[in-house]
Amino acid sequence: MAEGESLRGSLAPVGAVGPQEWIESVDTPPLRLSGVTVRYGDTVAVDAAELEAYAGELIAVTGHSGAGKSSLLWAVAGAVPFDGTVLLGADAVTDRAQAASLGIEVIPQGSALAVLLSAHENVALPLLARAVPADLAHRRASSALRAVGLEESAAHLAEELSGGQQQRVAVARGLALHGRVLLADEPTSELDHDNRERVLALLRAEADRGAIVLMATHDPEAAEAADGEIRLDDGRVDSVRLPQG
Ligand SMILES: Nc1ncnc2c1ncn2[C@@H]1O[C@H](COP(=O)(O)OP(=O)(O)OP(=O)(O)O)[C@@H](O)[C@H]1O
Ligand SMILES: [Mg+2]
Repeated sequence: MAEGESLRGSLAPVGAVGPQEWIESVDTPPLRLSGVTVRYGDTVAVDAAELEAYAGELIAVTGHSGAGKSSLLWAVAGAVPFDGTVLLGADAVTDRAQAASLGIEVIPQGSALAVLLSAHENVALPLLARAVPADLAHRRASSALRAVGLEESAAHLAEELSGGQQQRVAVARGLALHGRVLLADEPTSELDHDNRERVLALLRAEADRGAIVLMATHDPEAAEAADGEIRLDDGRVDSVRLPQG
């Protein structure tokens, strides 16, 4: 385990995690998935998944392409219809708007930025849409962009940014929402080594402030650095590594 431990150590929040103003602790109740099944027509993308996760945990969701990682995250986000239950404390997830009101936030696979808006606008707009006061929304957006190392690109249109920069804007957008549950769908797939470490440290910091972070990833080192891992194979939970303690 020495290798995993040293990687884990390198993911501890460092200077890159940056300003404290957007580190806001939360009291997140347990997240419990029971019999979660996602179907697209005849395709069973997620088959009766079970999972429990607790405040402070960073859990990797792994498995081959098409295994159902994104579908599982989207179910937790209330963004696809599913059978079974997703409970955050006593609240059952029903749809996306309700899940957002519970503090369940998403960093989507492929970034999904508005290409004709600036990086800053992409991060600030969801906050404004949630009725965060404008000055606070802009400060949080600036902080989050600084945390991912993009303060100098804040005014650039998303379409002017590289794939990796767009991915970091999407990470900043997710972080700025200060969720209780953060669903990060392959948030490091486009990143070079240093930015990958930076984003993993930021996700760790999210967990450390009391959030539950589920991170879909193809990256074995990122999965190893997580507290626990749920591996999917053709929609079924193939193995689970539980967080220690
Ligand atoms: N909107 C959709 N309509 C129909 N089938 C879908 C849809 N989205 C996903 N699927 C199918 O559901 C299964 C799981 O897809 P999903 O995107 O959840 O996998 P994944 O593990 O996230 O894959 P990747 O690593 O490539 O992102 C696949 O067979 C996929 O083809
Ligand atoms: Mg996916």
